[in-house]
Amino acid sequence: MSRIKFIAGNWKMNTNKASAIELAKAVAKAAPAGVEVGMAPPFVYLDAVGAAIAGSSVLLGAQDVYFEKNGAFTGEISIEMLKDLGVKFILTGHSERRHVLHECPALVGKKAAAVLAAGLTLVHCVGEKLEERDAGKTLAVVQAHLDELPATVVDPLKLVIAYEPVWAIGTGRNATDAQAQEVHAFIRQALTKKYGKDFADRVRIQYGGSMKPDNAKGLLGQADVDGGLIGGAALKAESFLAIVNAGK
Ligand code: PGA
Repeated sequence: MSRIKFIAGNWKMNTNKASAIELAKAVAKAAPAGVEVGMAPPFVYLDAVGAAIAGSSVLLGAQDVYFEKNGAFTGEISIEMLKDLGVKFILTGHSERRHVLHECPALVGKKAAAVLAAGLTLVHCVGEKLEERDAGKTLAVVQAHLDELPATVVDPLKLVIAYEPVWAIGTGRNATDAQAQEVHAFIRQALTKKYGKDFADRVRIQYGGSMKPDNAKGLLGQADVDGGLIGGAALKAESFLAIVNAGK
């Protein structure tokens, strides 16, 4: 099964309006064919970044969302609002949402279900903390995060899993190729149990956590690594594009 790799930048709470536009334009201009490329800027720059990449193949993404359609939810952003700005994919369950903003599994699950129900691509992030890995709980934690997903999903191409070991995020300490492949294979097996083999074979599983130009080729070369979710290295067009090109 050949899956087109999906490399997405998660800009987190970085850039300003001018630098966001500049970065988006530089990536859109040079994004190669043969690999799907996405970028998730801060909410407030989605509109400007969307305009900057208009007409290119680069997909606009959002780092978070609220599951309700509209109403009295101060500070929150709905899926319809994101769609309005041309957003094509939305992250749920990022470790910073789980562990810094204290989102619970029930909330993450509601967000994930809402994104899929709206027909957008879901990038559902899963991954263990260092103490969980050290305690031999990696696969159990990943399974629990996968359990947040709805029992039925229609389109395998609209479901992306990002395996992001928390100890690798922003630390410069990436998972080894073998560590990543082991968990990715487990994720595909879990998806097979939940959704069937044909479905699971088509789902892209991204790796995230200190993916850089110098380790991208090895990680992306693993059988079940179908892309990357890139934080720090996505903030410079040169390093992001080097990773994208490693995924061609
Ligand atoms: P990093 O972040 O590439 O800076 O480690 C990845 C992520 O959190 O998505």
